[in-house]
Amino acid sequence: MPIFFEPNDRVFTLRTDKTSYQLQADARGGLLHLYYGPAIDGCSLSHLVAFGGKSFSGCPSDVGTERDYTFDTLPQEFPVWGNSDYRGTALRVTWPNGGSSLDLRYDSHRILPGKPGLPGLPAVYADESEAETLEITLKDRFAEVYVILSYSVLPAFDAITRSVRVENRTGDALKLDNLLSASMDFAGTDWDLLTFGGRWARERNMTRTPVHNGKIVISSNRGASSHHQNPFLVLCEKSTTEDRGCCYGLSLVYSGSFTAFAETDQMDQTRLAMGLNPECFCWTLQPGESFTAPEAVLICGTEGFGSMSRQYHRLYREHLCRGKYKHARRPILINNWEATYFRFDEEKLFAIARQAHELGVEMLVMDDGWFGKRDNDLSGLGDWFVNEKKLKGGLKPLVDRINGIGMKFGIWFEPEMISEDSDLYRAHPDWCLHLPGREPLRNRYQLTLDMSRQDVRDYLFERLSAILGSANIAYVKWDMNRSMMDVYSAVLPPEQQGEVYHRYILGLYELLERIETAFPDVLFEGCSGGGGRFDPGMLYYHPQIWCSDDSDAIERLEIQYGTSFCYPVSAMGAHVSAVPNHQTGRVTPLNTRGIVAMSGTFGYEMDLNKMTDEEKEIVRQQIETFKRYYDLISYGDYYRLSNPAENHRYAAWQFVSEDKKKALLNYVQVLTTANPAPVIIRLRGLDPAASYSVNGMVLTGAALMYAGLRMPELPGDHQAIQIEITAV
Ligand code: GLA
Repeated sequence: MPIFFEPNDRVFTLRTDKTSYQLQADARGGLLHLYYGPAIDGCSLSHLVAFGGKSFSGCPSDVGTERDYTFDTLPQEFPVWGNSDYRGTALRVTWPNGGSSLDLRYDSHRILPGKPGLPGLPAVYADESEAETLEITLKDRFAEVYVILSYSVLPAFDAITRSVRVENRTGDALKLDNLLSASMDFAGTDWDLLTFGGRWARERNMTRTPVHNGKIVISSNRGASSHHQNPFLVLCEKSTTEDRGCCYGLSLVYSGSFTAFAETDQMDQTRLAMGLNPECFCWTLQPGESFTAPEAVLICGTEGFGSMSRQYHRLYREHLCRGKYKHARRPILINNWEATYFRFDEEKLFAIARQAHELGVEMLVMDDGWFGKRDNDLSGLGDWFVNEKKLKGGLKPLVDRINGIGMKFGIWFEPEMISEDSDLYRAHPDWCLHLPGREPLRNRYQLTLDMSRQDVRDYLFERLSAILGSANIAYVKWDMNRSMMDVYSAVLPPEQQGEVYHRYILGLYELLERIETAFPDVLFEGCSGGGGRFDPGMLYYHPQIWCSDDSDAIERLEIQYGTSFCYPVSAMGAHVSAVPNHQTGRVTPLNTRGIVAMSGTFGYEMDLNKMTDEEKEIVRQQIETFKRYYDLISYGDYYRLSNPAENHRYAAWQFVSEDKKKALLNYVQVLTTANPAPVIIRLRGLDPAASYSVNGMVLTGAALMYAGLRMPELPGDHQAIQIEITAV
């Protein structure tokens, strides 16, 4: 059993295959964080905690005149506002009288087999043979307010999930002003923090910063997890590298505004916390009601960043993604967006599809522009009716024709948005988020539908179902192309407007659940102007997400590198696009574009009719190659072999099958140089004692991992190769 309770000193130990996590309800009922890291068996670490008063540290009243107990300095598991802790807290409430102090103490606990789901929220799932759950109930010392902390342990993934439920059992309304999902205090300040920031078309660039006096905060207040910061961070030792040292990942299963911070304190401890962004959150709990915060997923990597990432990949692939396409091979697709933008009709689409099919592509995806009045991005969103001026005869004849040549058909929607120039807006101007009496803030000329409203969701369900039921549609790209503002709902009273950001996300999750249950055979791909909502919450509904609107292969090296710290390759939407690249103007060889896109879900985003015969032959071979390596790429272990942000000369990464019998090395020579020094890549993840055939040689795994493989000198910039390594 992975959860142990030692009743004498009330120590809880959560044990995964390689790690331990320990907490204690101390003699006063304070819930203290004792340890997280490589497994320590059979030891209670309560001796590490320094009790004792300090000047300018307040004591709760039950301490009396002793002054020997203060939350100001103790390492805590769930710090709250108003009980003497002055660091960033995980919960702040407002009582009916306007006060905010809270003092939570241990009340009870229980240990459950398996892992219960969270109401209305996406979460990691596991059965009784895979997980065990500890629920610790804390209670306020003065009022009937209970906080239930859940810890589910999935030993095989070295994962611990945390979530929090607040129950108001008082007779009055209680306001939640701030509620984070997880917080932990680590001993020491000698840590680095990895964050994954960026902007549109430049998502998830990894930054490594030392934690320093004060707080490092990352957050999104855009109503989406955002391009600008990802709800994922890693705390690590200064010496941690890809394959050595300890690191702690913290990932939030949520798609809306979030916050996370690392804070060093006066006692040289470091607090790491994550949850809903309090700038965008406030919730009124009526008597008898409860509120559940989104889930946070912790993975401690004991052998470097790579060990942590591979556990996140396995966990999210197997215990977060759902549905038919969790394991079924996903079709290789061609998307018409960069090929045509809004200028297409059924003949143009068919011509793109036919050529692609000849070369082995399996599905056509019709992107933005097929509905309502939509010749540019100024109008039409919300009118999910086929534009028969563009698609003469409607959707079904086109889909049948595409199916007729043996291809699947996919379609683009942006359900959460509305254009002011649309029939939907003219009929329901109050359906969008907007502030009464003020002009709206537009983004890409569009407004956001109020997804907290049932009538809005019912309309979308009806429209999407009608379209999906009208033809043989195998795939949906679910897009969302703006940051939110004016987050105000026409149907909620003033005192509940602070709930709208979160109610929006709950509404979105409800609609996704409804649609995907109704159409279980459809493959859904998430998108938000590329990777603006690339988060675990979305992965629960969509097994793949368009990684970035930047389709330039060289830029993608860094974007996919950063994304891989938390998310599996099977989730990363990646396509080969035309040159010069539409975002950067760069010309990259087709071979390189193929190799980079193959480290993702793989497809094309261009008109293959415009290629030479020689290029078409390359495409044909790329598709064959991707199919051959599909399992290795999609389910294999992923190893980062270089950091493209630091190494401008080359990028390398590797896939290894679970049985270590097959590996694929990918190498991109980013910039060439005159008279180059040799590049030797040390492989990873092989069996040291096994013999492998590679480049016509037979070498042991040990030789390949400890001595390495010399890369050929490739002619020119942006060249790439793939090298297969097979056990003999
Ligand atoms: C977003 C997506 C693109 C494309 C356009 C269509 O930007 O990321 O892939 O679908 O919308 O408007």
